[in-house]
Amino acid sequence: MNATTQIVPVAADHHDGWRRLFMDYCMDGGIEVTPPHLDRVWGWLASADAQTRGLVALSDGEVAGLAHFRVFERPITGTTGLWIDDLYVEPMRRGRGFAGALVESVRLVARTEGHDVVRWTTRETNVGARRLYDRIATQAPVVVYNATP
Ligand SMILES: CC(C)(COP(=O)(O)OP(=O)(O)OC[C@H]1O[C@@H](n2cnc3c(N)ncnc32)[C@H](O)[C@@H]1OP(=O)(O)O)[C@@H](O)C(=O)NCCC(=O)NCCS
Repeated sequence: MNATTQIVPVAADHHDGWRRLFMDYCMDGGIEVTPPHLDRVWGWLASADAQTRGLVALSDGEVAGLAHFRVFERPITGTTGLWIDDLYVEPMRRGRGFAGALVESVRLVARTEGHDVVRWTTRETNVGARRLYDRIATQAPVVVYNATP
């Protein structure tokens, strides 16, 4: 990060850069993306009524990274947290602190809005991302299960 880089809420004029990066992120994770899928997620980001919010990292005005997050309620503590769903930095701009700055910005939103945790998951095998996460957060002793509806 330097003077020409910043983290800002995603806005209409970030659409093309966001779409390119989010498509790469999905494909990186083995998810096939279609235009309706991308349109739907962009619609969530653009709507004040949807849960998903977005931040982008800008480098010389171009979208270099993204983070999607949302509020979740925590009945067991009677509090709320922020859940980070997606975090991605363009390959040529990695290692410059963009992901760390995106997570830090989500933490700032959590502090400002009064949520008591910022939480996310990653694959056990995601060694690069986990090096960063081990530095900035605490690994939780949980196992994630998925079931069909
Ligand atoms: C994980 C990811 C978001 C990190 O982004 P980043 O902007 O390079 O991260 P930062 O610069 O803030 O932090 C760099 C740290 O990430 C690690 N890292 C991961 N991939 C890296 C890469 N290709 N180049 C340099 N550093 C990388 C480094 O170990 C570094 O840790 P260190 O500072 O302790 O040495 C990025 O590599 C990425 O988009 N990966 C593909 C998608 C992904 O796995 N997302 C996370 C899903 S949970």
